[in-house]
Amino acid sequence: MRTKIIGTGSFAPARVVTNDDLAEIVETSDEWIRTRTGIGQRRISDGPGTAVMAAEAARQAMENGGIGPEDIDLIITATSTSDYCFPSTACEVQGMIGAVNAVGYDISAACSGFIFALNAADALIRAGMYQRGLVIGADNLSKIVDWADRSTCVLFGDGAGAAVVEASREEGVIRTILGSDGCKASVLKCQSRTMGNFLTGDKPEPGYISMEGQEVFKFAVKKVPECIQNLLADSGTDLKDVKYLILHQANYRICESIAKRLKVSMDKIPMNIERYGNTSGATIPMLLDELNREGKIKPGDKVVLAGFGAGLTWGASLVQW
Ligand code: COA
Repeated sequence: MRTKIIGTGSFAPARVVTNDDLAEIVETSDEWIRTRTGIGQRRISDGPGTAVMAAEAARQAMENGGIGPEDIDLIITATSTSDYCFPSTACEVQGMIGAVNAVGYDISAACSGFIFALNAADALIRAGMYQRGLVIGADNLSKIVDWADRSTCVLFGDGAGAAVVEASREEGVIRTILGSDGCKASVLKCQSRTMGNFLTGDKPEPGYISMEGQEVFKFAVKKVPECIQNLLADSGTDLKDVKYLILHQANYRICESIAKRLKVSMDKIPMNIERYGNTSGATIPMLLDELNREGKIKPGDKVVLAGFGAGLTWGASLVQW
């Protein structure tokens, strides 16, 4: 059995926050943000949490795939910003959409999360354990961003993307490679908010995203092309035969540099970072949904999905549509 993606969906909160809006709260400018990152605006939730966004993306993916919630037997959500420590976002989504026959759980791999979740669903479906799953990437990063830190707050946005995957005799997810390097955990992190207990005496303190931007940049432009090259070599696929590289949307310059290292033109690397910023686990499925709905990916097309982020983690998946 193989795992085929049969439907996609996405959701972004209605509220648009422009670079000029941010220039009113921190010392920055539209010009700095655009030239350093490619971001023009982002969506910030003033209401819906991670699970509500994820459930809406899931509903759209199910509609796109022509299936109902009771057909789903597996829900895996990649998120770093679950609304609760427990229950998981996947269980919340299950309740919201009425997927009464499913089992749900979350995966934490930050901005690489969707690839990790897709890999888990693919392995379980190949093993014959499940037939039809929802793979979701959803994040509400605006609630863990330090809105006084201009070096991070301009980068992120909120959103969710989802894919319906199904056991199939046809080719689908061809191969996935994942990696992590916990020695570099401190480069990009957000401390948990509830710390300590009555023995330690520590008071709970809010944790915010902190990042060594240039370290992340260097890691991404080295690891992602390496990972894609290994993925293609292992699966005997020529980069020429891949229609799109659907990369995590963290920075336009990172994607340009990846394109240069792989010697491909930016036509092969679709981008939507200008409109949404970095929505972490959601960027890849949101972009995938956009391309699918615009009819840009046709049956038989091969695409590579690739992500990188905190952990540090990275991963790439070769998928035949
Ligand atoms: N507006 C204006 N100036 C800013 C700024 C902002 N929002 N953020 C930082 N600066 C300033 C810095 O203070 C620094 O000023 P200084 O030279 O006076 O000290 C200057 O801009 C350059 O900062 P630097 O950090 O060297 O910029 P950079 O070119 O590395 O760009 C990032 C910063 C964050 C855009 C870039 O490093 C990056 O994108 N890294 C990857 C981050 C990422 O993708 N993270 C998520 C991964 S999942």
